[in-house]
Amino acid sequence: MQRVFSGIQPSGTITIGNYLGAIRNFVQLQHTAECLFCVVDMHAITVPQDPQQLYQRTRELAALYLACGIDPQKAILFVQSHVPAHAELGWLLQCMIYYGELGRMTQFKDKSEQKDVVTAGLFTYPALMAADILLYQTTLVPVGEDQKQHLELTRDVAIRFNRRYGETFIVPEAMIPKMGGRIMSLENPLKKMSKSDESPNATLYLLDPPEVLRKKISRAVTDSGREVRYNEEEKPAVSNLMTIYALCTGKSLQEVEEEFAGQGYGPFKQAIADAVVSVFEPIQQRYHEWLESPDLEKTLADGAEKAEKLASVTLEQVKEQIGFLPRRA
Ligand code: TYM
Repeated sequence: MQRVFSGIQPSGTITIGNYLGAIRNFVQLQHTAECLFCVVDMHAITVPQDPQQLYQRTRELAALYLACGIDPQKAILFVQSHVPAHAELGWLLQCMIYYGELGRMTQFKDKSEQKDVVTAGLFTYPALMAADILLYQTTLVPVGEDQKQHLELTRDVAIRFNRRYGETFIVPEAMIPKMGGRIMSLENPLKKMSKSDESPNATLYLLDPPEVLRKKISRAVTDSGREVRYNEEEKPAVSNLMTIYALCTGKSLQEVEEEFAGQGYGPFKQAIADAVVSVFEPIQQRYHEWLESPDLEKTLADGAEKAEKLASVTLEQVKEQIGFLPRRA
């Protein structure tokens, strides 16, 4: 059986990109694999976070995971900082990963560019991510395309550790969806949609009210011409909107082209808005129920307990292999 791990940062309200690129696939995987899904709050603090906001967003993200369909009977849902083994293995892996490797990470380069303050944590971020994954002997990591490089580094460090200290870690595979792996900004189709985008109109947030979603979609940039046709080079904006529409309705790109043949962008945008609202509305309803339910904290506590049991087995083995003196009673 596959062991699946993935995480999302509570660094903003999750977007349709996070949903289509990641969570939707998590929900499917939980039926056939042993799954762990995590709110990676320790990753979020690699850039400044307001404490109250981080607290709220951690609860919000946990409730959204559940509202999107993560079933705590099937999958383990937990908060990263509740399981200290992540920080511990993160440190050990920092000592196995090279400075040069971290410096080549494009996400680090993007996030550190033109910033006055860049934390050491932002630089070593991929070591903590590798720890998240390797602690659970994960075989499969469902993520969007932007995480591919981090996954490659995770594989490299697992292989390196195994060679140096003996077989310890399973070398995980990334699972990146062909469609939806990279949803683009509604304002600039050459830029990835991101939960921390400064312009709210660039992003469809899972918790945007229906009228806001409709407005943002009606304002989304399109390409020249009026044809609804998929071509990422010639029509990047329309291709992105088609991907969103196709994934929200279950239609193929060809069916979408046929549906809007000769109709122009107006009816197309109207249909996208209807499709997105019909996917988001039930999630929003369940979200509010979860957020107010005492079961939210209990679910996270149960999840942390189960995760900790699994993590401690790997961590103990790693420490022994490295040559640390065991603590005796
Ligand atoms: P994060 O929080 O940025 O994003 C969460 C997930 O959403 C995917 N994603 C997208 N997919 C398609 N289109 C987009 N525009 C888009 N934006 C984001 C991301 O690829 C991701 O799968 N480093 C990770 C969090 C993490 C993690 C892990 C993931 C920490 N430890 C271990 C997997 C395994 C991150 O920042 O994701």
